[in-house]
Amino acid sequence: MTMKSNYLTISLRLLAFCCAFTHPGLLHTDADFTRIQSKVSSKIEPWLTGWYKLTNSSFASLSYTSNPQATVFRGDDGVHTQNYASLYKDIAAAYAMAIRWKVSGDTSYADKALTILDGWSSTLTAVDGTADRFLAAGIYGYEFANAAEIMRTYSAWPAAKYQMFSNMLVDIFYPMNHDFLTNHNDAAIDHYWANWDLCNIASMLSIGILSDNQTMYDEAVNYYKTGGGNGQIGKAIWHLFTVDGESLGQGQEAGRDQGHSMLDFALLGPIALSGYNQGNDLFVYLTNRILAGAEYVAKYNLGYDVPFTTYTNSDVTQTVISNNSRGDVRPIWELLYNHYGVLKGLNVTWTKKYRDFVVEDGSGAEGGGGDYGTESGGFDQLGYGTLMYTL
Ligand SMILES: *[C@@H]1O[C@H](CO)[C@@H](O)[C@H](O)[C@H]1NC(C)=O
Ligand SMILES: *[C@@H]1O[C@H](CO)[C@@H](O)[C@H](O)[C@H]1NC(C)=O
Ligand SMILES: *[C@@H]1O[C@H](CO)[C@@H](O)[C@H](O)[C@H]1NC(C)=O
Ligand SMILES: *[C@@H]1O[C@H](CO)[C@@H](O)[C@H](O)[C@H]1NC(C)=O
Repeated sequence: MTMKSNYLTISLRLLAFCCAFTHPGLLHTDADFTRIQSKVSSKIEPWLTGWYKLTNSSFASLSYTSNPQATVFRGDDGVHTQNYASLYKDIAAAYAMAIRWKVSGDTSYADKALTILDGWSSTLTAVDGTADRFLAAGIYGYEFANAAEIMRTYSAWPAAKYQMFSNMLVDIFYPMNHDFLTNHNDAAIDHYWANWDLCNIASMLSIGILSDNQTMYDEAVNYYKTGGGNGQIGKAIWHLFTVDGESLGQGQEAGRDQGHSMLDFALLGPIALSGYNQGNDLFVYLTNRILAGAEYVAKYNLGYDVPFTTYTNSDVTQTVISNNSRGDVRPIWELLYNHYGVLKGLNVTWTKKYRDFVVEDGSGAEGGGGDYGTESGGFDQLGYGTLMYTL
């Protein structure tokens, strides 16, 4: 579909149903699923390899066993055993199972996804731990909403069960997202690195769309544009350079390490795409600021020099870019490459090179949860980008 007709479809939709949200409309739309089903059933690359990457995963297997917890703990509080791995693994499984059903039509995967989602919504009462509980509320809030947004298109999910799941996100995750973006755990407004704000923005935005709450959605979008903390886009990618006629944006975490710098893009992509799928183009905001940041981080992590300007906040002054974890690999590049490069036709030189680098590393396609290590970092993004985002 061309960009123009895409805009037209979205504006017509908004005109026809003023103020309603499009569903499914977080990371994936109906049009996306139609494209993916058709490419996979016709065995066309690279979707086919992306599909095998998913179907090969133990997280997309009917023998997966979920493990819902009443209270999830993240961060060592000296008292409780951290159990948040159960949550991020179950979300990875629910998401993989949901896609497997949508693309293959095999309802045993839909039923399996619902066992996981309903299991959590009937068990979870709190997310707790150290300050890290806010990372859990952010990252897992937005990921969970995405699994449910796909499953709400399954007619056999009883409305009451869907409501129970949505309520879990609205009652447990959203209040923590709101609290963090409002109070920042009582720290200085510039204390928490960008990814803390970004994951909470992503969660608030996603839960707002899932639960059809315009107030919540607006709160997230407004924070993204004008919020006081480091996740506000103008602070997350805060300094622009022009190199060879191309815009490169220094990220707020560039002087910290590259793993977290990359995590910021793992979150910015989904925030922008979820807004875009609701007719609100956050990719283009501040002259394609996310792309400038992606080009900067990709170029440096590929081994090239990038300019750096001194970064100062209440806690640190950084005079050089950090080479810690340089070359960090996450399945987050297909989304950015396909949107900015393929759909918008912009210069994505370094973003494309990083996509190629990650895809080669993943045997021809971006994988998902479990394919990039067993630690939480391997589950900080939903992945499967080659299958889901290739246009
Ligand atoms: C899927 O698994 C098979 C068998 O282990 C392997 O040969 C193939 O390369 C895998 N495909 C992908 C895309 O990971
Ligand atoms: C929407 O979310 C806001 C919190 O931002 C809440 O105050 C309001 O009651 C919610 N609206 C509905 C209809 O649930
Ligand atoms: C795109 O950006 C690259 C890297 O900065 C630059 O070398 C190239 O000339 C640019 N291409 C165009 C068509 O502007
Ligand atoms: C990494 O950065 C440190 C501090 O700037 C520097 O001393 C070191 O040489 C760098 N290492 C590499 C491999 O570039």
